[in-house]
Amino acid sequence: MIVAANFKMHKTRKETIKYLKELKRMDFKDVEVRVFPPFSALIEDELIGAQNAYPAINGAYTGEIGLEQLNEFNIKTLLIGHSERRHILGETQEFIAEKFNFYKQNGFRIFYCVGEPLEVRKKGIEAVVDYIKKQFEGIDLNYENLVIAYEPVWAIGTGVSASSEEIKETHREIKKLTKAPIIYGGSVKLNNIKEILEIENVDGVLVGSASLDVDVFRQMIEIAKEKK
Ligand code: 13P
Repeated sequence: MIVAANFKMHKTRKETIKYLKELKRMDFKDVEVRVFPPFSALIEDELIGAQNAYPAINGAYTGEIGLEQLNEFNIKTLLIGHSERRHILGETQEFIAEKFNFYKQNGFRIFYCVGEPLEVRKKGIEAVVDYIKKQFEGIDLNYENLVIAYEPVWAIGTGVSASSEEIKETHREIKKLTKAPIIYGGSVKLNNIKEILEIENVDGVLVGSASLDVDVFRQMIEIAKEKK
């Protein structure tokens, strides 16, 4: 099982260090735990991944960080393709694939996010699969260090997670395309994580707002520890 926290644009460096200290007081057992803090809170720790990075070692890319900056903190895990970057920051599939390929060549563990907007979900599973397939364009689904995060846009930050049936059918379809673990994200909370982890082909969760409280996140890991 994989349990990952995406802080998005929350927490300072000081808060992140305190959070990690608290978090590491527990035994994760077989659970792979990852924390994605903002750039300013990157620290050298095997749990830490970056929420984004530019596909270059360094260069004239104002406002970005690249491989050189990640290497300073020995960061080897990266989130790519989050819907907030696709929709708010306007990242294209072509650019996302460029990032994927660059960081794949550098051996990163890549958490690759996909997920459909509400108007697509309303059309049914076939439309959802077509949409997600487009988000796989240029992505090597056989990459051995890949984790897929299925995060329906309409479930992110809304408090309304996808239903078990929706998660099940979507993960089943994605599983036909890749052997990579598939985690679910979108309003995962303490009161629904157990049910979500029980769904077939769900290999973990990517948690946004509920992960900000370290006690809640620890309890989530406890629940995941009971799963194989
Ligand atoms: P929420 O858990 O806040 O819905 O966010 C999910 C998410 O986007 C994780 O990457």
